[in-house]
Amino acid sequence: MKVLVIGNGGREHAIIWKLAQSPKVTKIYSALGNAGIAKQAEIVNIKIDDFQTLANFAIENKIDFTFVGPEIPLADGIVDFFNSKNLKIFGPSKKGAMLEASKSFAKDFMQKYNVPTAAYNVFTDFNKALDFLNKLPEDEKLVVKADGLAAGKGVIMCQNRQQAIRALKDIMQDKTFGSAGNKIIFEQWLQGQETSVLVFVDGKHFSIMPAAQDHKRVGDGDTGLNTGGMGAYAPAPVATEELLKQIKEQIMPAIINGLQKEKIEYKGILYIGFMVDNGKPYVLEFNCRFGDPETQVILPLLKTDLVDIVEHTINQTLDEIDIKWENKAAVCVVLASGGYPENYEKNIEISGLDTVTEDEAIIFHAGTKKNENGKIVTSGGRVLVVTAISDDIKSAIDKAYKVIPKIKFDKMHYRKDIGQRALKWISKQKLPL
Ligand code: AMP
Ligand code: GLY
Repeated sequence: MKVLVIGNGGREHAIIWKLAQSPKVTKIYSALGNAGIAKQAEIVNIKIDDFQTLANFAIENKIDFTFVGPEIPLADGIVDFFNSKNLKIFGPSKKGAMLEASKSFAKDFMQKYNVPTAAYNVFTDFNKALDFLNKLPEDEKLVVKADGLAAGKGVIMCQNRQQAIRALKDIMQDKTFGSAGNKIIFEQWLQGQETSVLVFVDGKHFSIMPAAQDHKRVGDGDTGLNTGGMGAYAPAPVATEELLKQIKEQIMPAIINGLQKEKIEYKGILYIGFMVDNGKPYVLEFNCRFGDPETQVILPLLKTDLVDIVEHTINQTLDEIDIKWENKAAVCVVLASGGYPENYEKNIEISGLDTVTEDEAIIFHAGTKKNENGKIVTSGGRVLVVTAISDDIKSAIDKAYKVIPKIKFDKMHYRKDIGQRALKWISKQKLPL
């Protein structure tokens, strides 16, 4: 089979790494790519928003299916476009991707179909939103969200009414997040532990992957600015059997029912961000694709051929496949450019990549490229993702951090505490490590 993957980050490298293991796959193309992807796929120089050229490429090269990594082409309707040309593609329709692209759409969907989530109010009018805030107690804590794709940045946690008013002005008047600020959402601030549960969904059936946990802040101890994600681990112990049972028996059936009632075609991945408060899960957000860097810990645990899963998803027969996972733990640490998530330099040479064997760790490339002298250099904020697999989270953490000193580039930085939250949680529950 010939496969086309769209996107060029660490997530897409992990997808390609997994697809390349399939005995069914003979050739992988990657629309854009990086120095790591280039080893397993042929890089095609077509922009990911150029649907017509991508579709022409798929037709001319007899691509069996296209796998979409990032959210933007999904939100812009690449799946509908490919389907209209009878091309097989893995991902939700434009309407399905609205579960990520519009937070108000997602909240209304959850409310309508009894999916537990934080209480909320939506406003399109600045003055009405301000009136609402002015009626709240001075010390009311509130989460303020811009209603659109804002690269994970459109959420402001406000400690009191004054901060919420500031956030409202930033979003709706100053348009800090552009047109995502035409609508605003105020949400009840939930307490608890966060976990991400990713689910294969074919529109009728679903299959849950091991729960993961991301580390969004740049600094140790969850300090500093938000990033795309600095590391992850799976399975996340906060997602207990009991919690997964609730998701499987109540939340996912409610979501599938909603998708069907709303006639939303959804054949791909639904990423559900949960807040777990006293054992009860509340949905914080939906994403319509694999997470980055969650994919880099989830896919290395997948035993089943990803191509089989893709085919069953596209054919709406996910109920006919028994998806198997390794009974192990995976931890990944993101190696970032100095200055990330703010300004950083590019084109810095990376050394040591060849000194790490896959038994020690898998190195997924994110922002890397080969320069004119054939050297691998940095080309983005998140540069490399080091994934270690072991019998438990503790030893996977140790394994990942043992490998990192072998890899070097000037001003490289990374979090030193990936996975510590899991260890704390385990010791609080008095569970074996
Ligand atoms: P979202 O993109 O909606 O998931 O929000 C990004 C991050 O903001 C989440 O991962 C949480 O850490 C936080 N967050 C969002 N909504 C809430 C909420 N209602 N209560 C507490 N934290 C929240
Ligand atoms: N790591 C968070 C995300 O992919 O949205």
